[in-house]
Amino acid sequence: MNDNINNRGLWRSKIGFIAAASGSAIGLGNIWRFPYLTGENGGAAFVFIYMFFVLLIGFPVMLAEVSIGRNTQRNPVGAFKKLAPKTHWKYVGILGVISGFAILSFYSVVAGYALGYIFETLFGAFRNVQTAQQTKLIFGEFASNPISSLLCLSLFLFVNGIIVYKGVEEGIERWSKTLMPILLFLLIFLVIRSLTLKGSLEGLNFYMKPDFSKVTGSTFMNALGQAFFSLSLGMGTMITYGSYLSKKDNLVTSVSYVCLFDTLIAFIAGLAIFPALFAMGLAPNEGPDLVFVVIPSIFSKIPGGTYFGTAFFILLVIAALTSTISLLEVVVAYIIEERGWSRKRATVGASIISFLLAIPSALSGGIVKFFTKLPYYGGDFLSFMSTVFGSYALSIGCLFIAVFVGWRWGVHRASQEIANGNPKFKSRVLWHFLIKFVSPIAVLLIILNLIKSSFF
Ligand code: PFF
Repeated sequence: MNDNINNRGLWRSKIGFIAAASGSAIGLGNIWRFPYLTGENGGAAFVFIYMFFVLLIGFPVMLAEVSIGRNTQRNPVGAFKKLAPKTHWKYVGILGVISGFAILSFYSVVAGYALGYIFETLFGAFRNVQTAQQTKLIFGEFASNPISSLLCLSLFLFVNGIIVYKGVEEGIERWSKTLMPILLFLLIFLVIRSLTLKGSLEGLNFYMKPDFSKVTGSTFMNALGQAFFSLSLGMGTMITYGSYLSKKDNLVTSVSYVCLFDTLIAFIAGLAIFPALFAMGLAPNEGPDLVFVVIPSIFSKIPGGTYFGTAFFILLVIAALTSTISLLEVVVAYIIEERGWSRKRATVGASIISFLLAIPSALSGGIVKFFTKLPYYGGDFLSFMSTVFGSYALSIGCLFIAVFVGWRWGVHRASQEIANGNPKFKSRVLWHFLIKFVSPIAVLLIILNLIKSSFF
């Protein structure tokens, strides 16, 4: 086991961590999940609350996770075991590993859709599309076909497994550094087209002019969960990625960049989608299909849209890959270091389990009635997994991580770790206050409020 630990990789360059952690953070969460949740939760007020949470809770929790990781140089379970030996804290790490499997499963299904859309777009499925109703039908047909869903899912997981198998510095860093800026560029291009469509102003208002009268407890819960999901927090991803950092790196600066890039991309994705959505007469609460309906409709209104659209979906798949790599890496690092498996065996085993777990989500697009409309829940299986693991489990994970760093490991020890590479650590006192009081209390109140409104 020790051998496995000593052989851990390190990021190659100073921006290695920023690139890889941004790669983990930026993905379908920004371009698929953020817009559909914004649409379902009333628009600008949700965006506002979301950003507030990123700043006040997401940022301090990310700093906490990364400092645990760098200090212990372990996977999440090993990290808790090292800092609090023979206690129950290791279960926070185990919850993280379980969440990793669960999120990887439904996430890969959506990534599989994006993969399939590369070919749909390239072969001209959207070339003669006139209305958004048509793109809606195309997506409905595509997602309800079990063969293509499962095929795209397997292909995606296969590529993901190969990259993770190759190891940290080879696989992850290289992909993230070069391709994410191109995605940003294409998104800006989409924003321009979207804003110049007739009738786009209404969408802009929906997205930017908050109406707080419609905010409820579940708006807060969704915004909080989305902040954690988008920043890859609450399941030890940032502990794992932080564990490959060198003592010379400045954690505060690195974490600031990751939060900034991630929020920027989500914001720009919304800016591309909502003006176009209103211009095309769609309803904002379209749900998880939103991005697959609106984006092809915008491309159909651009000269050369087939090629730009194809490029967009290629980049979306790559953005998804840099995130799923991090999800699988958490699980694999745990199996290698705690169970003593080889990287190859751990990667293959974890990928197969994720595939099996993903099958119900892949079938929730239409073919199996049970998975399309779950009893009691009412929505489909994929949305169910996204809510339970993408929002609730991550929020609970973040709550425990904040309590752990604030009260068990202790802010002073954590600050000493952060001071490596940042001897002054100017925001020390503010961070202590946020991680000890603000983050845990806010997360707890939001969870309690949700329980109250769901059951009483
Ligand atoms: N942050 C990723 C996204 O926004 O697409 C999803 C994700 C990756 C969530 C890794 C959690 C995680 F640990």
